[in-house]
Amino acid sequence: MFSLLPIAALVAPALAQQNITYLTSLLGALNSAGLTSLATAAGQINSTATGQNVLEQLSKQTPFTVFAPNNNAFKGVPSNISSNVQLVSDIIAYHVLPGTFSTAATAPNTTVARTLLNDSSVTFLEGNKNQVVAWQNSTSGKVTILNQNTPVTVLNSTQVGNLTVLVVDGVIDLPGSLEAALTANNLTGLKTVLQTTGLLNPLSTIHGFTLFAPSDEALAAAQSQLTTLGSNATLITNLVDNHVINGSSVYSPEIAAAKGNFTSGAGEGISAVTNSSGTFLTSGNTTAKVTKPDIILYNGVVHIIDHVFLNTDSNAGAASSAFQSATSAAAQPSAATGAVGSPTGSGAGASGTAKSGASGLRVQAGAGAMALVASVFFAL
Ligand SMILES: *[C@@H]1O[C@H](CO)[C@@H](O)[C@H](O)[C@H]1NC(C)=O
Ligand SMILES: *[C@@H]1O[C@H](CO)[C@@H](O)[C@H](O)[C@H]1NC(C)=O
Ligand SMILES: *[C@@H]1O[C@H](CO)[C@@H](O)[C@H](O)[C@H]1NC(C)=O
Ligand SMILES: *[C@@H]1O[C@H](CO)[C@@H](O)[C@H](O)[C@H]1NC(C)=O
Ligand SMILES: *[C@@H]1O[C@H](CO)[C@@H](O)[C@H](O)[C@H]1NC(C)=O
Ligand SMILES: *[C@@H]1O[C@H](CO)[C@@H](O)[C@H](O)[C@H]1NC(C)=O
Ligand SMILES: *[C@@H]1O[C@H](CO)[C@@H](O)[C@H](O)[C@H]1NC(C)=O
Ligand SMILES: *[C@@H]1O[C@H](CO)[C@@H](O)[C@H](O)[C@H]1NC(C)=O
Ligand SMILES: *[C@@H]1O[C@H](CO)[C@@H](O)[C@H](O)[C@H]1NC(C)=O
Ligand SMILES: *[C@@H]1O[C@H](CO)[C@@H](O)[C@H](O)[C@H]1NC(C)=O
Ligand SMILES: *[C@@H]1O[C@H](CO)[C@@H](O)[C@H](O)[C@H]1NC(C)=O
Ligand SMILES: *[C@@H]1O[C@H](CO)[C@@H](O)[C@H](O)[C@H]1NC(C)=O
Repeated sequence: MFSLLPIAALVAPALAQQNITYLTSLLGALNSAGLTSLATAAGQINSTATGQNVLEQLSKQTPFTVFAPNNNAFKGVPSNISSNVQLVSDIIAYHVLPGTFSTAATAPNTTVARTLLNDSSVTFLEGNKNQVVAWQNSTSGKVTILNQNTPVTVLNSTQVGNLTVLVVDGVIDLPGSLEAALTANNLTGLKTVLQTTGLLNPLSTIHGFTLFAPSDEALAAAQSQLTTLGSNATLITNLVDNHVINGSSVYSPEIAAAKGNFTSGAGEGISAVTNSSGTFLTSGNTTAKVTKPDIILYNGVVHIIDHVFLNTDSNAGAASSAFQSATSAAAQPSAATGAVGSPTGSGAGASGTAKSGASGLRVQAGAGAMALVASVFFAL
């Protein structure tokens, strides 16, 4: 027979930080607001370490914001998720943000904020940073959570003490994989290129990266230039790596705030300009516009661009030193209570120059695979 005592002893220190009086009143407030399904779910998460951490954080009664799915939203949750208390805990952690956020989106249009989600089985960001959530205020005036299979919109806002409750009409999906994001966003050409070069797997396992993802239309428009690369592995490798920042998840508000340049996985500069027409990135001789920002992944972020960076140059030394900077920046502890990219927010690149590069992210494929990539370019 196993004794339950050691488990209780392990759990006890976390529970000591919970204010049961306050948490009970909080659940009561959610129930009174008609958010009974959320209150029921929140009442279950105390059995996981993730859930205990959420309850402990809320017990501090400092300002928090919660995206609160209404009862109708919970009806759409499949039973294999609602019956999995670890997943329910992760989902609730992903809906809670340290700090006060009104629903107003900040410039440039997207707001990105850290959540309480840091379960390492579903979040693999640099420096074990907590996962972020992104939202926009659409032109119709609705505040919408980005990257959702079904749209999630803020319905209304109420204040419970220091807790800002933003009622939403859906349960926010946890960020998924690069492969799923490529499929969901019709990035079929890029998906094939990454698969063929062997880059899809490393990009799916590294902790923290940014991918500037050319749309299918962009790849098709660059077809003649791409086919001149033939099956030259060095050139194809450099071109693909020039679309990646390794070691840093750089969200659109950080790109807008950046005063310097970013360094690509191939060690080349990527300069960024944000103005009233949008965000523009330049690598080599190509300038591309960001057409869809902030596709959040469990281990990074993707921004869709409208041109391929036709840059086959590389600088191994710059790539390596940029990666070192990103790694040490990610290791800095941070207590974020504001939007990422804002003065009180956290994240590599939040305050000025964010540099990063690849180390160990080189394409390892042989000449055969490169011939395949060439044929992909040719088929576009
Ligand atoms: C628990 O929260 C209540 C309500 O805010 C507060 O009055 C009380 O002081 C808190 N207890 C502790 C131990 O912090
Ligand atoms: C806000 O949403 C809650 C939960 O759906 C609902 O009970 C409440 O009536 C709404 N308040 C307003 C002002 O619409
Ligand atoms: C969490 O679980 C512990 C042990 O079962 C219990 O003492 C505590 O009251 C629970 N907290 C909440 C918020 O239910
Ligand atoms: C709200 O948080 C502040 C600290 O940020 C604290 O001083 C204050 O007591 C809190 N208010 C409530 C109602 O808990
Ligand atoms: C839940 O079941 C659906 C199919 O009904 C499946 O696609 C999904 O991956 C499952 N989710 C989990 C977390 O097991
Ligand atoms: C969202 O933007 C519209 C204009 O596009 C503006 O009228 C509205 O006040 C904004 N809403 C919020 C909550 O920021
Ligand atoms: C998550 O964050 C809490 C503090 O907010 C920390 O105690 C806990 O160890 C973290 N969990 C992981 C898996 O990093
Ligand atoms: C992907 O393509 C399909 C078919 O053309 C289209 O219906 C869908 O809206 C596209 N999705 C995105 C995210 O562009
Ligand atoms: C690839 O291209 C580079 C630069 O043009 C050239 O130096 C190299 O010899 C080429 N490699 C092959 C295998 O053709
Ligand atoms: C950005 O990079 C470009 C080209 O590499 C360079 O000309 C420019 O001086 C750099 N700007 C900053 C601020 O580092
Ligand atoms: C912000 O939104 C406005 C209005 O929709 C748009 O004109 C502008 O280009 C956007 N800015 C950025 C940086 O995307
Ligand atoms: C940019 O264009 C110039 C002039 O055509 C050329 O010399 C240079 O190699 C190009 N740079 C890149 C990175 O392609």
